[in-house]
Amino acid sequence: MASFSHHFSSMHVVWMACFHVYVLCALAELQRFEQPTKEDGSISFLVVGDWGRKGNYNQSNVAFQMGRIGEELSIDFVVSTGDNFYEDGLRSINDPVFEKSFSKIYTAKSLQKQWYSVLGNHDYRGNVKAQLSPNLRNVDSRWICLRSFILNAEIVELFFIDTTPFVDKYFLKPKHHHYDWRGVMPRQHYLSNLLKDLESALQDSTANWKIVVGHHTIRSIGHHGETNELKKQLLPLLEANNVEMYINGHDHCLEHITSSTSQIQFLTSGGGSKAWKGDIDQLNIGGVKFYYDGQGFMSLELRQTHVKIVFYDVFGKVLYNLNMFKQLNPVI
Ligand SMILES: *[C@@H]1O[C@H](CO)[C@@H](O)[C@H](O)[C@H]1NC(C)=O
Repeated sequence: MASFSHHFSSMHVVWMACFHVYVLCALAELQRFEQPTKEDGSISFLVVGDWGRKGNYNQSNVAFQMGRIGEELSIDFVVSTGDNFYEDGLRSINDPVFEKSFSKIYTAKSLQKQWYSVLGNHDYRGNVKAQLSPNLRNVDSRWICLRSFILNAEIVELFFIDTTPFVDKYFLKPKHHHYDWRGVMPRQHYLSNLLKDLESALQDSTANWKIVVGHHTIRSIGHHGETNELKKQLLPLLEANNVEMYINGHDHCLEHITSSTSQIQFLTSGGGSKAWKGDIDQLNIGGVKFYYDGQGFMSLELRQTHVKIVFYDVFGKVLYNLNMFKQLNPVI
């Protein structure tokens, strides 16, 4: 009997080892989520960033208007560009801030859809594992927050990228802040794997529209301005792989900037709560089509060959419209 149970446990160990190898291999690819289009083949969603302040700084007003516009467009999901919980992310999966800044704010019926979210630098100041925990879905089933992942919505593929670890200053000059880098170290290894995974996912994508979502700016004339690390390391990948849009938060504003070297549209939706910093980088205004230094959000309506993007203010008033057209990808 003793030898049987010994035999059993060593079999068990072998099985566990195989299982772990399998999990490690699976982790080499970005996790994927599927989102079907509506019956007419279209898909629509809202984008909000830099929001979680327990309703303050107009967060509740933005949320109310998101509910209204969400209803009008009968949105399929919501995208969050990060900095979800101020000032320092979540402390644990039981942190009441999760409900005070999320569940109890975005209460409209139209917003009871999946929320796909990345982490921002403020989220990294808390317990990152808590904010990434699938157990948060027991508190609010809408919450889907991962470091980097892919959302495949048939006509469009969204690539969510964890941009905070790219930014040198959080490592070199963290000031008095503490960042939770568990799962990110060694940093160069983490970043090169991420870029490799993104590149192969972009190359494999057959969607007509490719959108990359991150917290940090690539181009912006707002308070934080551009993120040089992303310009150097991420932008060339987007340009080489026919990405149509890069969507971010971080700067607490709404903006649209075109590129002089590629087809990419840079869209900032970081107006989910505190805004009105009042600074514009006048030296860098080339390609800027729209800049609004206040609160609001953005909507996207996509069809195979047409995208309509709209920015709204805190009253739900349309501030700016952008239409993009594109031929269908030739069948390979
Ligand atoms: C709320 O929004 C209004 C309208 O844009 C603005 O005038 C006001 O300053 C905002 N409040 C805060 C605290 O940002």
